Amino acid sequence: MRKKTALVVGIANTGSISAGIARELYTNGYKIIPTYLNEKALPHVKEVTDALGVKKLFPFQVGDEQALCALIDHLRKNGIRLDAFVHGIAFAGEIKKELHEVSWKSFRESTRVSAFSMVEITSKLMEADVLNPGSSILTLSYIGSHLAVEGYNMMGPVKSILEALVRGLASELGGKGIRVNALSPGPVMTRAAAGIKGFENLLRVATEASPLDRTATMEDIGRIACEVIENPAVNAVVYPVDCGASVTMPVGPGEEK
Ligand SMILES: NC(=O)c1ccc[n+]([C@@H]2O[C@H](COP(=O)([O-])OP(=O)(O)OC[C@H]3O[C@@H](n4cnc5c(N)ncnc54)[C@H](O)[C@@H]3O)[C@@H](O)[C@H]2O)c1
Repeated sequence: MRKKTALVVGIANTGSISAGIARELYTNGYKIIPTYLNEKALPHVKEVTDALGVKKLFPFQVGDEQALCALIDHLRKNGIRLDAFVHGIAFAGEIKKELHEVSWKSFRESTRVSAFSMVEITSKLMEADVLNPGSSILTLSYIGSHLAVEGYNMMGPVKSILEALVRGLASELGGKGIRVNALSPGPVMTRAAAGIKGFENLLRVATEASPLDRTATMEDIGRIACEVIENPAVNAVVYPVDCGASVTMPVGPGEEK
């Protein structure tokens, strides 16, 4: 019998950061309730969740109110209460454009999917009263939120908004015993990351900049995610998981080698 339950939004495949977090939560006794983007993504998500004993997955795309309500109805009807909500989603349609070339339509969509969706989902969970006191919300940011990282373009300001939402939500929900945090991992090659121009170089620069000569692995990120979710003193922070690279790194992807 699993003692705690986590809603995990953001698994695309075995390489997703959310997959690493879900695996670590499962190892620590959590029942995982995962979502998937669409039917095409489902087999790839199941590859992760089958190993975590998941029987039921829920379709969810930002903006699909019906899908979100169906998920929450399922929680309520089955008396399932959550101890953690992992928000691991991001999308930027014009990521390859420089910031000054990005349209408002694209920036707005990216902000909703990558940042405000955390608030939208939290709001529905609160309304349905399915978050346990002591529960924890965790999202994923990046150093590009406060440094202009070459190639990160529109996602920088979007992550900045996400981090401000973490602080705002944490301050509002603390009274209900709910904590809100973000991890800020160094670069990890995932499907979303593959869309970022010069990402291979970003990985190389981060590795070289780290005093440890490495970047964080999925397992590293999963472990600290679990700690941040469980530790009752950790609240309203953006926690770096970058092997120290952010202290020393030149932030651009640098020259192609
Ligand atoms: N990979 C990195 O180097 C890195 C570093 C720091 C932070 N992050 C952040 O980690 C999070 C997870 O990304 P990842 O790198 O694991 O990539 P990923 O591609 O594995 O995960 C991104 C997820 O976002 C979901 N998504 C995209 N658009 C959506 C929509 N409209 N509705 C619902 N879901 C949607 C995708 O289905 C996918 O599951 C993102 O917030 C990303 O910005 C990634």
